[in-house]
Amino acid sequence: MMRSTPSRTNEDRRIIAGLDIGTSKIALIIGELEPDGGVSVLGVGTSPSVGLRQGVVINLDQTVDSIQRAVQEAQLTAGFEIREAVVGISGDHIQGVNSRGVVAVSGADHEIVPGDVDRVLEAATAFNLPKDRQVLHVLRQEFLVDSQAGIKNPIGISGVRLEAEVHIVTGSSTISENIVKAVEKAGISVSGLVLEPLASGEAVLDRNEKQLGVALLDVGGGTTDIVLFFDEAIRHTAVIPLGGQNVTNDIALGMKTPLDQAEDIKRRHGWAYRPLTPKSERILVPGIGGRGAREATLDVLTAVIQPRMEEIFGLAAKEIKRSEFAGRLAAGVVLTGGGSLLKGCAELAEEVFGMPVSVGVPKGFSGLVESASSPVFSTGVGLLFWSRGGPAGSAVRRSRKDRFGGIGRFLKRFMSDYF
Ligand SMILES: Nc1ncnc2c1ncn2[C@@H]1O[C@H](COP(=O)(O)OP(=O)(O)OP(=O)(O)O)[C@@H](O)[C@H]1O
Ligand SMILES: [Mg+2]
Repeated sequence: MMRSTPSRTNEDRRIIAGLDIGTSKIALIIGELEPDGGVSVLGVGTSPSVGLRQGVVINLDQTVDSIQRAVQEAQLTAGFEIREAVVGISGDHIQGVNSRGVVAVSGADHEIVPGDVDRVLEAATAFNLPKDRQVLHVLRQEFLVDSQAGIKNPIGISGVRLEAEVHIVTGSSTISENIVKAVEKAGISVSGLVLEPLASGEAVLDRNEKQLGVALLDVGGGTTDIVLFFDEAIRHTAVIPLGGQNVTNDIALGMKTPLDQAEDIKRRHGWAYRPLTPKSERILVPGIGGRGAREATLDVLTAVIQPRMEEIFGLAAKEIKRSEFAGRLAAGVVLTGGGSLLKGCAELAEEVFGMPVSVGVPKGFSGLVESASSPVFSTGVGLLFWSRGGPAGSAVRRSRKDRFGGIGRFLKRFMSDYF
């Protein structure tokens, strides 16, 4: 383990960390919170997600081991040991719903105070949640005071009736508990659990895009996560259980080659969009079980890749259409995650979505800019940003012991509000 030198201690430098437990890799990003509020990336560590399937812990010891590998690598580059991290969570157990709460303003002078805001947010989350599910985020959209809509911060305003519109993200309690358990066993305490695509959005999107309306698609290994923003608030979240690993599987099956070779072929030669593919270019495809390599054209390779990417984007488009904000995405679609590195991905997506599409990389930080500026690290960098106190620096930290039952104690600094 690295030791920090006396002049660089965690005490006088504010060291922060984001731990992305993805379906294909675990990434730990260590950073420093600078006095001016900026974030500098000091270390990046990755390791394959062994012990997890689709983001769910299936072997605790292997998962702990994978986390420790990523932690050690990042600590080595950073020259700091970390004790806590904001941890990303995803998987198809995640559900997002819009909800609304109403309360009467309490004070005799009818001026809204923070206690009223707490109560109305409680009211918005007061629905019957099955025992095995927990609330991960209560994301504020807007407040209404005596039916006057469009209020972002109601404190100080006078009225009798206060309403809140929120987006609530819930997940399986046991899946979250097992993630927390694995991270704690790896020696890191969990300072918050954040839905991964929300973190990616923090790193990749700018305020303008969130204001105008944008759909963020994080195309990962096993899942494709979707978040819709409009008027700077989250309107819709969804997870599709397909990603880059499905493309690799298709190549392995379709071209009869081992999985690791299929992965390599995809990264080096893969195209998602036929019109851009140099169709007659030839590649060597190694055979299975010692069979000799065969030649194939890129046209054939694209014929394997494109349908799967079309399926993923098609399902995402369907999911986006379910939101009432589907028609209000003036900033189009932004792709991120390792799956978005596939060549021709944005062009294919433009055709499927009928909207402008770009590929987003994490930005807005200094330090190891080159290493961390990849769509693979959007979630990790976003988690780092989140650990400086939440989006726009005004997240509410409160204990929700009762609601979170067992894992409440891990979430002392729960960062749920988006504002
Ligand atoms: N250069 C590349 N070209 C094409 N695909 C790539 C490239 N680099 C990585 N990928 C793919 O990206 C996927 C992994 O992306 P990422 O690291 O964002 O996933 P993850 O965060 O582990 O998974 P998830 O977000 O689903 O939990 C893999 O399927 C991998 O094959
Ligand atoms: Mg991911």
